Amino acid sequence: MLRKLVVGNWKMNGSLAQLAELSAIVEAARGRADVDVAVCPPATLIAHAAAQAGGLAIGAQDVHCNPHGAHTGCVSAAMLKEVGASLVIVGHSERRQDQRERDEEIRAKAEAALAAGLQTIVCVGESDPDRQAGRAVEVVTNQLLGSLPDSWSVGELVLAYEPIWAIGTGKVATPADVAEMHAAIRRNLAQRFGERGASIRILYGGSVKADNAAELFAVPDVDGALVGGASLSAAQFVPIIQAAG
Ligand code: PGA
Repeated sequence: MLRKLVVGNWKMNGSLAQLAELSAIVEAARGRADVDVAVCPPATLIAHAAAQAGGLAIGAQDVHCNPHGAHTGCVSAAMLKEVGASLVIVGHSERRQDQRERDEEIRAKAEAALAAGLQTIVCVGESDPDRQAGRAVEVVTNQLLGSLPDSWSVGELVLAYEPIWAIGTGKVATPADVAEMHAAIRRNLAQRFGERGASIRILYGGSVKADNAAELFAVPDVDGALVGGASLSAAQFVPIIQAAG
């Protein structure tokens, strides 16, 4: 079994004052030697968060695929690393939708992040119409093919399965659906990467809360969680960390 990883994605939420929540999260993470914990605040807070994270991993929610240049509004992997990020999320469905990011671009971002030494979480997930049409596994398999880089070191590449219809909606995929998808992803990783595919942690994301986390973590091939709304408060996030142990 892989060591579980619980990642908070604050999205476009938070402020300097919100960092007060971090200290309780840092404490909870410190007490759990068996679980990896990370928080991804907005880019503006990364340096502040890293300064008070005391060993808790701090990450970014996006990165540009180039190291520098004329890309107004963007930040590179080296820039994120310099201010204290050790990981990054790429290909979140909100960016796939809002910024129209395509698999090819997400793969380039993942490659740039890995090259800079950032642990990289690549997100995949189907829409509700895809699932209703029975195409969930096919859609996710295609995203894996297009957005996962070929070259990575063990521990550096992480996958997050986040069904779009479960994100921020309070609707959670059933354990049976999660089991089916995570098994399909695991098979796909094994086909593509051989034995090394077994080392990639597969997180579940989409309305993970204190009251459903334990059930989700018990599903085979669920190696952690990517948590949005419930990661904004220590009171909600810490029980999820505890459920992962
Ligand atoms: P949620 O978000 O936990 O608020 O559903 C998850 C995510 O988008 O990573």
